[in-house]
Amino acid sequence: MKTFNILSIGLLLSLVSCTQVPGGKGDSAIEQKIEALLSKMTLEEKLGQMNQISSYGNIEDMSGLIKKGEVGSILNEVDPVRVNALQRVAVEESRLGIPVLMARDVIHGFKTIFPIPLGQAASFNPQVAEEGARVAAIEASAAGIRWTFAPMIDVARDPRWGRIAEGCGEDTYLTSVMGAAMVKGFQSDSLSDPTAVAACPKHFVGYGAAEGGRDYNSTFIPERRLRNVYLPPFEAAAKAGAATFMTSFNDNDGVPSTGNTFILKDVLRKEWGFDGLVVTDWASASEMMSHGFAADPKEVAMKAVNAGVDMEMVSYTFVRELPALLKEGKVKEAAIDEAVRNILRIKFRLGLFDNPYVDEKRMEVLYAPSHLEAAKRAAVESAILLKNAEGILPLSASVKSVAVVGPMASAPYDQLGTWVFDGDKTKTVTPLTAIRELVGDRVQVIYEPGLAYSRDKDQSGVAKAATAAARADVILAFVGEEAILSGEAHCLADLNLQGAQRELIAALAKTGKPVVTVVMAGRPLTIGEEVERSAAVLYAFHPGTMGGPALADLLWGKAVPSGKTPVTFPKMVGQIPVYYAHNNTGRPATRNEVLLNDIPLEAGQTSLGCTSFYMDAGFDPLYPFGYGLSYTTFEYSNVKLSSSTLKKDDVLTVTFDLENTGSYEGTEVAQLYVRDKVGSVTRPVKELKRFTRVTLRPGEKKTVTFELPISELAFWNIDRVKTVEPGDFLLWVAPDSQSGEEMAFEVIG
Ligand code: BGC
Repeated sequence: MKTFNILSIGLLLSLVSCTQVPGGKGDSAIEQKIEALLSKMTLEEKLGQMNQISSYGNIEDMSGLIKKGEVGSILNEVDPVRVNALQRVAVEESRLGIPVLMARDVIHGFKTIFPIPLGQAASFNPQVAEEGARVAAIEASAAGIRWTFAPMIDVARDPRWGRIAEGCGEDTYLTSVMGAAMVKGFQSDSLSDPTAVAACPKHFVGYGAAEGGRDYNSTFIPERRLRNVYLPPFEAAAKAGAATFMTSFNDNDGVPSTGNTFILKDVLRKEWGFDGLVVTDWASASEMMSHGFAADPKEVAMKAVNAGVDMEMVSYTFVRELPALLKEGKVKEAAIDEAVRNILRIKFRLGLFDNPYVDEKRMEVLYAPSHLEAAKRAAVESAILLKNAEGILPLSASVKSVAVVGPMASAPYDQLGTWVFDGDKTKTVTPLTAIRELVGDRVQVIYEPGLAYSRDKDQSGVAKAATAAARADVILAFVGEEAILSGEAHCLADLNLQGAQRELIAALAKTGKPVVTVVMAGRPLTIGEEVERSAAVLYAFHPGTMGGPALADLLWGKAVPSGKTPVTFPKMVGQIPVYYAHNNTGRPATRNEVLLNDIPLEAGQTSLGCTSFYMDAGFDPLYPFGYGLSYTTFEYSNVKLSSSTLKKDDVLTVTFDLENTGSYEGTEVAQLYVRDKVGSVTRPVKELKRFTRVTLRPGEKKTVTFELPISELAFWNIDRVKTVEPGDFLLWVAPDSQSGEEMAFEVIG
């Protein structure tokens, strides 16, 4: 038996924070350059730096403003020739020659599109996130982009919210690890590397808790929950060296983030020591008027700058209103100088003053074979096997014909997912194309989509598809969501498959042939009925450019699924919010509750069990967080703790044996959960603290080690102090958030 040691991801996160990066924090040469430049700037030039515009028209249309030094950053310019032309105006024709910072939303790839971030999170592999961001940065920087508005690290516990697609799901720790890895990937080892792109963790903060999962909606997150659940991923991103932050659209407890001094000054600057630049979201400054938080553009600028915002995205209140505010003493010159310092600091760190131009020939790197390979690996690791009855997958050599059905089988645009501004659908490899290529003449492929697109309600093709499918040995049904059904402003109140996709699956199931359902979507969908009707279900959140080859490999066993759910899958919408790290309540569900149809007529009130559950949906979700099958099986045994009594500065070592008890080589995502049994405030029933991917050959057994510093059990307690409270803890080493043998340990004072 081999011993397998894992460097704890938590330790890694803190190592990242200790690393001295050249051009990083406290670089006195840069600070001197900033001061020298600042001392030469007029007020107009300072306010210009604080102004971000969206690209429009011809170079000439924008060059007037740039020449006058009235633009600090431009977003949405992706042609390197135009980027250089605009930069030339800034560097050669403006008085001080300050380069412009070119920005773009590069969320899960620039040209080579990786799985959506929610999919990447399903890999539970920070390397996937880092590599995806690195490839994105190499490609985007080739077009002259040096700033991306990513990673999106909003903890999201409501799949109605379309933007759940853009983040890493419901868990604070998983989001922290993946987000920090993305920051590293975007920025590389040094921001001055011409392929480095400044990261912008967003949306700061709490945006994922929008009431009812409706985008832009208000949030109500009390400070303790904000600190325990929503802030840690941002703190991890700051520690990983994120150059910039973006404020969010939501008002939390009545205060829009763009005017929130507490989060921007007290937490971000003072507590975390952040010295980068803070930008608003798109017009989130002027939207403070719609919120009813500012009466007019002048009050907008005053509240935003005084709260600690440095740059305004596209709503122009800073350039227009700050001169008067300054005269009236409502905004201090020191506040403006500080904002300009933060902006210039990032421009210096990016090396823009020394190398303002992009090498136009670098565009050759787009869709490089190594990028496509990385995107395929990411898509393989992101797919989650939810069901595999009787081992129907992987498809065996005895399968001589397959029917490829469903609107997502050949949807090159839609499989890319949301936030794809630059990806080219003609480069997408769809499942249909990949399957044909993989099986060649060995397997007959019958293609009959049944529906033209995911919302298609026209059932005229359904019967035809079912008839065609009946001729095949196995039916492969590709269903899900078009790209436009998730992402910003694309929220849903109904999470069933759209259009006539449910009817399609029902008709396919009626043929009696085994149905393998592959779902490509931007969120977890309520697919309980479809799971029932299918022999196997593979869930691939929109998998990107190389989704097809990844899925074909998985279906035929050239690759083995290893993804786990990064978010709880509800049975029905009414269960939302449903997430694993909930508090216990005073009346926790027993799972023996009497459900709706079993309640006797005229039952006395107490017969319902008096616990916290839904009569129609019970308590449990369709799939818990952290869940996913493999083609092989894994057995956990021999879980041992280094000690059952630990002090606050100890490190708990957890070892266990993991054995591959099946017949395929496979990778298991082993997870470590902890529960703090009694606290000064109630604590979640489980919290993920560690995870690791372990690859084992059939019959192979390894001893796996998790190192958990007890300091990581700290939380913001009744006194709003972050501390480890002594007491009893429970621990599980498990394949998901709902299983595993319970162990106990104690932390002493
Ligand atoms: C989104 C941000 C995005 C920005 C710039 C906004 O609508 O909320 O996530 O970065 O636009 O495109």
